[in-house]
Amino acid sequence: MAKPEPFGIAIVGCGTVGGATARLLQSEAARLREVSGTGVYLACVVDVAFDHARSLGIDESLFRTDMAEPLADPEVKLVVELVGGTTVAKEIAAKALSAGRHVVTANKALLAHHGAELFALARRNGVTISFEASCGGGIPIIRALYEGLLANRIDALYGIVNGTCNYILTAMVQSGRTYAEALGQAQRSGLAEADPALDVSGLDSAHKLAILASLAFGRRIDLDRIPVEGIDTLETLDVAFGRELGYVVKLLAVAGRGPDGVSLRVRPSFIGLDHPLAWVSGPFNAVSVYGHTVGHTMYYGRGAGGPPTSSAIVADVIAVAVGAYQHTFRSLTIWPDLTEPVRQLPMEQIESRYYLRVTVEDKPGVFAQLATVLGNHRISISSVLQREPSEHIDAPAADDASDRATKTREDSSQVTAVPVVITTHRTNEGNVRRALAEIDELTVCTRPSVCINIIDEHEETI
Ligand code: HSE
Repeated sequence: MAKPEPFGIAIVGCGTVGGATARLLQSEAARLREVSGTGVYLACVVDVAFDHARSLGIDESLFRTDMAEPLADPEVKLVVELVGGTTVAKEIAAKALSAGRHVVTANKALLAHHGAELFALARRNGVTISFEASCGGGIPIIRALYEGLLANRIDALYGIVNGTCNYILTAMVQSGRTYAEALGQAQRSGLAEADPALDVSGLDSAHKLAILASLAFGRRIDLDRIPVEGIDTLETLDVAFGRELGYVVKLLAVAGRGPDGVSLRVRPSFIGLDHPLAWVSGPFNAVSVYGHTVGHTMYYGRGAGGPPTSSAIVADVIAVAVGAYQHTFRSLTIWPDLTEPVRQLPMEQIESRYYLRVTVEDKPGVFAQLATVLGNHRISISSVLQREPSEHIDAPAADDASDRATKTREDSSQVTAVPVVITTHRTNEGNVRRALAEIDELTVCTRPSVCINIIDEHEETI
């Protein structure tokens, strides 16, 4: 058999993921060439410093500081972009595509912001851009959507797609830690970044949802229109009440298809303990996808870290080296440069069940006031939970409620405030927001209310 053509790979950015990818391409070189029947090999690693690469034992003869070098090498057919961010990364990807090199990236922010532009550029230059590692780390969820599930109309997708948040929430649920304690624990164990904002704000999950939903629905998603809430204001009290009601809190990225459009959101949400996503703990990720003919499928694994993410990157590399991805990229019409913008439901029209916690004075007639406001906004109550007073009005008030707390104390020093937890039947977000704005204005209400989506199992159509 003829010796396969050399297929050189340049890795740009040798941090945690770049380093692990370089190691994997080196340690598995012979096996990867044998199983793929290609001449795939690591040609070089481009970065500005190589301390990390050296510490991993990567062959120093491969170190380059200028990306022009691999782009001048005709054996280099593919560039793996792993620098992160959206500015330098975009320049690197654009340079490589313009020079006729395939690009593999793990960069969700880059794709969520500039996917359509980069896909179009790849197409104009007769090359491809692939991105399995951008969502769910090592989990092959992107392939599942564009290959394995292609026969399906995807009706819904629920994802736990941020390992940092899932680790923090698991610590809050299982060990009763506060958000700050759980974040500290995650940072000490190296799971959370020193600046965890991108993860805990929910933005990283929104980037991933934009990518997953674009493939699931074959429509272009506008990142800026995804409602996003992070986990950084979540209180242990709500975590505990949720447990009592049979729910566990997760940062869920949710996409659903409805008759009037697609709903999208990223939020801390309650999900029933009987849903398999409830049991996805620590740094693990999982995505539930509901197809009209396959029903519920779920994809689970490590969503971050060098070795798991390098698994997805090298899968992309091999798919291009054997020529398979080129066909998919050319033939399918689901890519962001080829699709129409999604018809997205305004946030007001998103339907869900809701958990509401209102903090009110503990005296007769208060619940009737709450029920009246909810009824006026056509919100039907499913359950009510109230514990013995746990929060006296003299206790430190929430920042933005302090004025109200003081005023109330002048009126009556004996009044205590209690949390009342109400779960609702299905209603829309607009009704809930309007009702809570009114409830927060009641004089008996001593703190701003808390509202958490309850995500029900999506009904299968099979
Ligand atoms: N920081 C992400 C996480 C991984 O914690 O899951 C990269 O998207």
